[in-house]
Amino acid sequence: MKTDPAVRVSVFDDLDSLSRAAADIFLSVASDAIALRGRFSVALSGGSTPRRLYTLLASSAYQNRVDWSHVHLFWADERCVPPDHRASNFKLLSDTLLGRVFVPEKNIHRMHGEADAEEAAREYENQLSHFFGSSSLPAFDLIMLGMGEDGHTASLFPGSPAVREKKRMVVPVYLDKPNIDRITLTLPVINHAARVLFLAAGKTKAGVIHHILGEGNSREYPAGLVCPESGTITWFLDQEAAGKS
Ligand code: 6PG
Repeated sequence: MKTDPAVRVSVFDDLDSLSRAAADIFLSVASDAIALRGRFSVALSGGSTPRRLYTLLASSAYQNRVDWSHVHLFWADERCVPPDHRASNFKLLSDTLLGRVFVPEKNIHRMHGEADAEEAAREYENQLSHFFGSSSLPAFDLIMLGMGEDGHTASLFPGSPAVREKKRMVVPVYLDKPNIDRITLTLPVINHAARVLFLAAGKTKAGVIHHILGEGNSREYPAGLVCPESGTITWFLDQEAAGKS
């Protein structure tokens, strides 16, 4: 799997070992950021892949090794549903992590999925400007992303205008199927992160991943457009997603 030298790829036996390695990255980036700047800003994704990671971070093996009082949690995207809805990415974090570790309320920067998509996107842009300052793009210490079978990441879907957004930091996404609107960070914000970590597992991802990390034309997939300007990008794959089983 030939990749750009700036892209690091690690392949793990299974989702559990992949998730443990991702938890170790979370710990390491968090402690460095807190030591350096007194805070750690991370944007997290939804989906099924990161559930094990979030549960691990809340477990006794990890939770006491993070200074949660200095962690600022953001979301890479959200579905336009109430925060207690089963499809909510906030609910995913609430069920796996937030109920078990103490992150101060003011450090939980929730996307307001209960609001109208455009209104929620504008509100989140205000949250980002308030936290990172309004003179430059947000510079997350870490953004954790997944990838769908179609090569989408966050809520940046192939062919969506959101993928081509160059100015706004957060935009609404109107989907037909399933009929749930979303809001998402845009590529300018994602590509301004200090570090991006993709987690991808399962056979269904192997074809698109081969295009993105191999010889194919990665730019036809939104996940293939993630290329931090000065940060690093790491892909954590299981054997199936890496096409090795
Ligand atoms: C979301 C996620 C989305 C996810 C991919 C992969 O809100 O659904 O942000 O981008 O990361 O769809 O999902 P799985 O991990 O379930 O394959």
